[in-house]
Amino acid sequence: MRIYDIIRKKRDNHELSKAEIEFFVDKYSKGEIPDYQASALLMAIYLNKMNKEETVYLTEAMMNSGDVIDLSEIDGIKVDKHSTGGVGDKTTIALAPLVAACGAPVAKMSGRGLGHTGGTLDKLEAIPGFSIEMEAKKFIDSVNKHKIAVCGQTATIAVADKKMYALRDVTATVDNISLIAASIMCKKLASGANAILLDVKTGDGAFMKTLDDSFELAKAMVDIGNGMNRDTIGMITDMDEPLGFAVGNSLEVIEAIETLKGNGPKDFVNLCETLGAYMLVLAKTADTFEEGVEKIREAISSGSALEKLKVFIENQGGDKRVVDDYSLFPQANLVIPIKAHRSGYISRIEAEEVGVSAMILGAGRETKDDELDLAAGIILNNKVGDYVNEGDTLATMYLNKEEKLESAKERFINAYSIVDEKVEPKKLVYGVVT
Ligand code: URA
Repeated sequence: MRIYDIIRKKRDNHELSKAEIEFFVDKYSKGEIPDYQASALLMAIYLNKMNKEETVYLTEAMMNSGDVIDLSEIDGIKVDKHSTGGVGDKTTIALAPLVAACGAPVAKMSGRGLGHTGGTLDKLEAIPGFSIEMEAKKFIDSVNKHKIAVCGQTATIAVADKKMYALRDVTATVDNISLIAASIMCKKLASGANAILLDVKTGDGAFMKTLDDSFELAKAMVDIGNGMNRDTIGMITDMDEPLGFAVGNSLEVIEAIETLKGNGPKDFVNLCETLGAYMLVLAKTADTFEEGVEKIREAISSGSALEKLKVFIENQGGDKRVVDDYSLFPQANLVIPIKAHRSGYISRIEAEEVGVSAMILGAGRETKDDELDLAAGIILNNKVGDYVNEGDTLATMYLNKEEKLESAKERFINAYSIVDEKVEPKKLVYGVVT
């Protein structure tokens, strides 16, 4: 077999065989195919697309390019949740203890943030002492004992994906449904879960900006999961405006804690209930979606999810007193209110611009080696549809580097549109794909 022939076949819009796809992934991850030939093949895939079978073969080959984790020593059905990323997405921090408090095991590997989107690991590290590094044995023992552990994805998982993603990033071949679906799913499948819940974000702050593309991506990933014998559900949820009110690492953890105390923002609570209920159904801890929602609500009102969060933090070396004392989180020395420049209804809060603004303040990374300021970020006061008066505080910025303020403010103000006509609030859930 020759890579030249595989490139030519895809260039001419023919279907690649399982063996050809495996050949490419194997040889490329071992460094036996040069970047220029891999780039040519990726561009041919980008332009001519892959069908369902080719996408499953690609995912499987990428999954097998690294370690495949065995979680069989953990009792029960392990359900993983994956979000395609967004602004203010602190869902795992509230959802993991919620689901674990309802009796379903949560053995989760999470990632870091890049650009305008945040990552769960960075947020967890805002908790003093919290460690995301764990030996496999401790990870498994923790889930068996406490039903919950979250760690970082090891470098030995889906080795081909790291190389391919870096190449796609510089060859304008990222936003292809098959390539994104395979890239996300190979890591989820290698992480060992029995069932997978996908939260595919749609809108301005998401990878997929249109509803059609979001449904197509969800369908591609659900087909891959089910095709590989994992019960998989995909949900399409809003990321046109930021999720909840907090954007930035410590601020988002505090919002997740408040949610477990029963004081969460409406959209975020709704998302946790919906995703949590589907996770419980997938874990067979609830028979129906409605029963799942009931259980999640009960875990909040009884305080059991908050207790689970404390156990989770303590088990991973963190200071559980943060749950009752937010002054233990990293603090910003500058707290700046941002005012509305006119009265009216908020018709737009562009998630990506808010995310970039928070990143400028220090909450995110522009390049993967940037250091984060875990205290930096923004607390919004409103959602789309709210009425504000001129001079009202739209948001509060938290920062330590004063020189960042002006450019962050400029981006932030650009994110808002305020109009005279009444505006409907945004919908949260656009659909479910099974
Ligand atoms: N996230 C991934 O892990 N891979 C992609 O290709 C896109 C988003």
